[in-house]
Amino acid sequence: MSSSGPILKVSRVEKHFGGIAAVDGATLDVARGSITALIGPNGAGKTTLFNVVSGFYRPERGEILFEGERIDRRSPHSIAQRGLVRTFQITKALTKMTVLENVMLAARNQPGEHLWQIVLRPGSARRREREVAERARELLRFVHLERLADDYAGTLSGGQRKLLEFARALMTEPRMVLLDEPMAGVNPTLGLELLERMKALQVDLGMTFLLIEHDMEVVMSVSERVIVMNEGRVIADGPPGEVQRDQRVIDAYLGTGAAAAAGGMGR
Ligand SMILES: Nc1ncnc2c1ncn2[C@@H]1O[C@H](COP(=O)(O)OP(=O)(O)O)[C@@H](O)[C@H]1O
Ligand SMILES: [Mg+2]
Repeated sequence: MSSSGPILKVSRVEKHFGGIAAVDGATLDVARGSITALIGPNGAGKTTLFNVVSGFYRPERGEILFEGERIDRRSPHSIAQRGLVRTFQITKALTKMTVLENVMLAARNQPGEHLWQIVLRPGSARRREREVAERARELLRFVHLERLADDYAGTLSGGQRKLLEFARALMTEPRMVLLDEPMAGVNPTLGLELLERMKALQVDLGMTFLLIEHDMEVVMSVSERVIVMNEGRVIADGPPGEVQRDQRVIDAYLGTGAAAAAGGMGR
């Protein structure tokens, strides 16, 4: 594992769907310990790039290095084990579990996975389960969902679910987290909460974040660097103030129509 240089390097990555080049030769890197924003008009390929980086899609071309190691042929599980995770929507099955169970389930080694351990060393399996529950509660406290620990996840508001997704991602003890529009549909108070938690993890633990975010005010306030995608490629990269004035970026947003420009970049 290298401890200097970018934590993530994406080189000339391509991912097609039928005839559509969703990601079309994207190249970027992310500095260790940074909060980097990934922006771009709808359909630019941002979510697809996240899916490729986290191992859910295999790119047809290109190379991805995490901590200096190739990850572009690896499974999502193997990539998560290396410390790179993305947040996930709380699916239907998970809404029927409690908030606490949701977080516990995200732990790296599920006690239930090792049946032999329960049979041969019941004491240690129980101890492990207790540790997992304790850590899950700590994380729920961290995202201010502790009082809802025993409620079904299905009863949470959209914003609370985003916080739960965040806690689930953190349960894997990641070094880097990919967040796809974490503020979308979240009320401003919970949104600020999430940003503050992210900032704390960056400052205290040196955790790295790459987040897709449309609200330029949010982007300006949390990220030191912005990467802009359009039509599957990276078209600009730099400090938020600079990127906002970049003519290629302005053109990309204008190219998608006035409504998108007003919603994405205008304010
Ligand atoms: N699973 C898929 N099947 C077919 N086309 C897809 C799929 N996912 C994304 N696309 C297409 O790829 C392009 C990029 O989409 P996406 O990565 O979702 O962009 P963004 O997140 O920047 O809005 C779009 O044209 C979209 O319609
Ligand atoms: Mg998207």
